[in-house]
Amino acid sequence: MKLKPFELERMQSENEHHVEFNLSESGVEPLKIRELLDTAELKEQLLDMQLGYSQTNGTVALREAISHYYPGSTADHIIATNGGIEANFLVSWWLFQEHPDKREFVFMVPNYMQIGGIWKNMGMNVKNFNLRMTEGKWAPDIEQLKSVVTKKTGAIAICNPNNPTGAIINSSDLKAIADIAADNDAWLVSDEIYRGAELQDEKAPSIHGIYDKTIITSSLSKAYGLPGLRLGWAVCSTEQVAKELWTYSDYTTICPSKISDWLATLALNPKVQAKIEERTREVVQTNWAIMKKWLDSHSDVLEYVAPSAAAICFIKQKTGIDSLELVIRLMKEKSVLISPGEHFEVPGYLRIGFGTEPDHLEPALARISELLNELS
Ligand SMILES: Cc1ncc(COP(=O)(O)O)c(C=O)c1O
Repeated sequence: MKLKPFELERMQSENEHHVEFNLSESGVEPLKIRELLDTAELKEQLLDMQLGYSQTNGTVALREAISHYYPGSTADHIIATNGGIEANFLVSWWLFQEHPDKREFVFMVPNYMQIGGIWKNMGMNVKNFNLRMTEGKWAPDIEQLKSVVTKKTGAIAICNPNNPTGAIINSSDLKAIADIAADNDAWLVSDEIYRGAELQDEKAPSIHGIYDKTIITSSLSKAYGLPGLRLGWAVCSTEQVAKELWTYSDYTTICPSKISDWLATLALNPKVQAKIEERTREVVQTNWAIMKKWLDSHSDVLEYVAPSAAAICFIKQKTGIDSLELVIRLMKEKSVLISPGEHFEVPGYLRIGFGTEPDHLEPALARISELLNELS
C-alpha cells in the first residue's frame, strides 16, 4: 500500500524555508546552544566530547533526568528518542505488532495527525472521537468516545495540551477517558509535548499514574524551545514496555545523537528547566497579547477561542474561500506560511503559530491582514 503523506509536515517541509514569514511553527522561538552552555567549563565539556554512538535508549543520566518529571517512574520506564515524532512512531508500531487481536484504534480529532496517519497507513481501522466546541471551549466528547471504543480497541490516542486548538483536557475528562480505556482493556497513549507551555500559571494535568496501561510521549521541541536537538521520549507504565519499545528503535535510528543526549540532560536539570519554562511562559503570554489584538481587529472574518497552552491559535475563518486555498494564496502572494484546518480534518479553520519574536510576528500578521482586506 502506498504511504499517504503526512500533509501538515509535508507542507511545512516544502515551504517553511522559502517564505519570508513562517507562522506554521507551534513552539516558541528556539534557544541558542550558548544559552544552555553558560559556563566556560560546560563549553569545554562540549568541545571535548568524543562523537561516538550514544547509549541507544538514552544515557542513564538523561533517562533519570526525564523520570524526575514523572514521579514514581525510573530511568527504566523511559526510552529516549529522536524527537517526540519517533516516540509516537515506535509506540504506534509496537501497538500494531503486539496486539494482532485488537485492530481498532481510536484517535482524538483535531490532533497532530501523525499517530492516526501511521495506523491508517498500517491498514488499521481508525475511529475518530472529537474534541468539540461546547460553551466556548474545546472539550472531548466523552459520550462519543464511549460509543466508539470496543473490546477490539487496541489503544486510544490523545494529545493534551492539544495541537491545534491549544486546549487543555481537564482532570475529570482525562479520568473518564482512562476509565473507558480500562473498561475495554485498551492502551491509552497521550502526547503531552505542549505540557509546560501553558498560558495560565497552572500546569496541564497529565495521564501519568492514572491508569496502568498508559504511555506518554513528549520532547524538548515545544515547551523547552529546543526542536533542533531532536530529543524526545516515551514514558511507559512498566519497565517491560520500555524495553520492548527499545527493540523497535534498534530498527529505526539506533540512538539519539550524543550531543543532543548531553545537552538535553543539561536542559532537564530542575534549575535550568525552571528558567526555560519561565522563558516559554513569557513568550506565549507576551505574544498571545499581540495575536489577540490582531485577531480582534479582524472579528468580521476570524473567530477564535483563546488557547490555554502552546503558541498556536485555531481560528474559524469566514472569508468565503477554503482554508487550504487561503493558505496557498498567503504563501504565494504574501510569503507567509500558516497551516490550514484541512490538515487537522477540520476544514474552515486556520492554525497560526505565534511563538516567534514579536518583531517577526507583527509584520507577518500585517501581511495576512493585507490578504484578508483584499478578500473582503
Ligand atoms: C503533538 C505533537 N507531537 C509531536 C510532534 C513532533 O515533535 P518533535 O519535534 O519532538 O519530533 C509535534 C510537532 O509539531 C506535535 O505537535
